[in-house]
Amino acid sequence: MSVEVKIKRVTTRDIRARKGAEPIVVLTAYTAPIARLLDPHCDILLVGDSLGMVVYGMETTLGVTLDMMINHGRAVVRSSTHACVVVDMPFGSYQESPEQAFRNCARVMAETGCAAVKLEGGREMAATIRFLVDRGIPVMAHVGLKPQAVHAAGGFRAQGRVDAEAEAIRADARAIDAAGAFSVVVEGTVEPVARALSAEIAIPTIGIGASAACDGQVLVIDDVLGLFADFTPKFVKRYADLRPIITAAVESYAAEVKTRAFPGPEHCFGLPKT
Ligand code: KIV
Repeated sequence: MSVEVKIKRVTTRDIRARKGAEPIVVLTAYTAPIARLLDPHCDILLVGDSLGMVVYGMETTLGVTLDMMINHGRAVVRSSTHACVVVDMPFGSYQESPEQAFRNCARVMAETGCAAVKLEGGREMAATIRFLVDRGIPVMAHVGLKPQAVHAAGGFRAQGRVDAEAEAIRADARAIDAAGAFSVVVEGTVEPVARALSAEIAIPTIGIGASAACDGQVLVIDDVLGLFADFTPKFVKRYADLRPIITAAVESYAAEVKTRAFPGPEHCFGLPKT
């Protein structure tokens, strides 16, 4: 008799219940092989729209489309069994109205099988978040530095240094908490502000460049592995340096091919030698 052990995925309710408890481990994942490797170690796999820069070589996330997010989201869901998979909503797919947001979020959830969506914004998105949550779509919000608003903000810079900005970020966090988001990414925000808002809202804060005062951390996997060299923020700790390893492997491969040291079909397909 075989016993089937059904692996239970981390749910958005589990994440919500981790407020103030064990820190929440989050990494971005965009592809099947990386999702398989990260899944056992992460509470959340975030299919971030950072894929525009990391995977597609774009300068910002603004050119990312809904179809890109759906294709990568599907690959990550298919290749994971443990983590809660959250898919980012790309620029322009949710800001117009709650109805537009619902239509596109519902499509992302139906076509990828993800557990939740993430969208950028605070007070201005609170009504939309409430609309989505009331209709069964769990939402992770994103405050502080918002990469989709990079042009409006005049570039990437730490948030919350002046009082008015600090109070605005805290008000954003309170608004999305009240609107029903299950967690919030706090990006590029100075420590006192991240600490204050983490203490005053009931949902977990997931920091990225926002200090250890948050309830968890998210990093971009290519930064963690030393694969993305175009732009690495100062706060990113590199846990591996894979670029020289890949370069050395490709150099060995190229050198072997140039000496015609490549195998025949018996090696490729396991055919017996005649
Ligand atoms: O797009 C992304 O990867 C993100 C994280 C960096 C939070 O939004």
